[in-house]
Amino acid sequence: MADKIRAKVITGSLGASFSDLIGAALSSPGLAVFNSPRYVIFPGFCDVHVHFREPGFSYKETIKTGSKAAARGGYTTVCTMPNLNPVPDNVEHLNQQLACIERDACIQVIPYGAITLGEKGETLADLAGMAPYVAGFSDDGRGVQSEDLMRQAMRRAKALGKPIVAHCEDNSLLRGGYIHDGDYAKAHGHRGICSESEWGPIARDLKLVKETGVSYHVCHISTKESVELIRQAKAEGLDVTCETGPHYLVMDDSMLQEDGRFKMNPPLRSPEDREALVQGLLDGTIDMIATDHAPHSAEEKAKGLEKSAFGVVGIETAFPIVYTYLVKPGILTLDQAAELLCISPRKRFNLDLGQDFCVWDLESESVIDPKEFLSLGKATPFQGWKVFGRCAATVRSGQLVYQA
Ligand code: DOR
Repeated sequence: MADKIRAKVITGSLGASFSDLIGAALSSPGLAVFNSPRYVIFPGFCDVHVHFREPGFSYKETIKTGSKAAARGGYTTVCTMPNLNPVPDNVEHLNQQLACIERDACIQVIPYGAITLGEKGETLADLAGMAPYVAGFSDDGRGVQSEDLMRQAMRRAKALGKPIVAHCEDNSLLRGGYIHDGDYAKAHGHRGICSESEWGPIARDLKLVKETGVSYHVCHISTKESVELIRQAKAEGLDVTCETGPHYLVMDDSMLQEDGRFKMNPPLRSPEDREALVQGLLDGTIDMIATDHAPHSAEEKAKGLEKSAFGVVGIETAFPIVYTYLVKPGILTLDQAAELLCISPRKRFNLDLGQDFCVWDLESESVIDPKEFLSLGKATPFQGWKVFGRCAATVRSGQLVYQA
């Protein structure tokens, strides 16, 4: 297999359908022709929500380890969140991250700039200075609590032609919660995070989007109310998109265990929420799947549900999980999976496909084992899950960046 794959140029326009892209890939002279239908070539995946932790927290992940892990997951473009040290809130700080990317990234890595200085929610960051270099503006990891500051940020982002990418979380409703405020929390005596802490800020922001006309993207939606609010906003014609993560689509709070690898923010919600997310994916309310790849050290994740850090890794498991638990059971087609993992995020964030693709062996069966991850982060709720699909190779700009 390995020596059959040669790095090959595929030029696909974003308007092309997945079948067209595959057709282009297969008809390109020099591309390996596979004797078996088990191998599928996808356009390079694009994840608009990852945490690569550099600069500031390289013990959790670096640009080098994160981008290698992404390549192993079939990704050729990712957008990194700004909860770093220093926070990219001006050009000088952003340049430190851009230097790491320039030096160490094996795929395309595009940062977000912060919305507020230090992600503190008090003063707007230098959005204009950072605009040429960033995918958009986000305070991910924290919600912008002040409505007025969010309004100002939206006005400025609109003038700069960049999206606001919102982590929606109302701190006044958290009350020390760390998992969903649902059946599992009640049964096991945990403090819960209510759904309104997510949908409340979404409702507020949608009002502001109407007022300012900004392009607005909602991060990691997890509740049925969020789906409905975004469905309505789209019906009204607002410039709104959203993402959810693989874990919210295939897991719910009935599957929680007393282990930090089940803890992320937002938390796994109820079975009804999960069903609403799948429905949202099918009717186009949810535009894309993004992983919120959020690596932490083993120590930080070893403190149970209450005390562990929020965040799980996901970039190396996204496609096998989507394929095994959504495509194989017939919920999504392979074309829809490619749309959600590649085409739609690239269109929304204007990220060129370039000459990128990944090759997957769809019949390869394995059990998810974090020891195999190239990411420094090992905490995943999918540990031990049986999956189909193994990335055989990933090509970025004609260069082989991962080979099994
Ligand atoms: O679970 C999470 N982890 N959610 C976030 O919003 C932030 C992220 C992180 O940075 O670890």
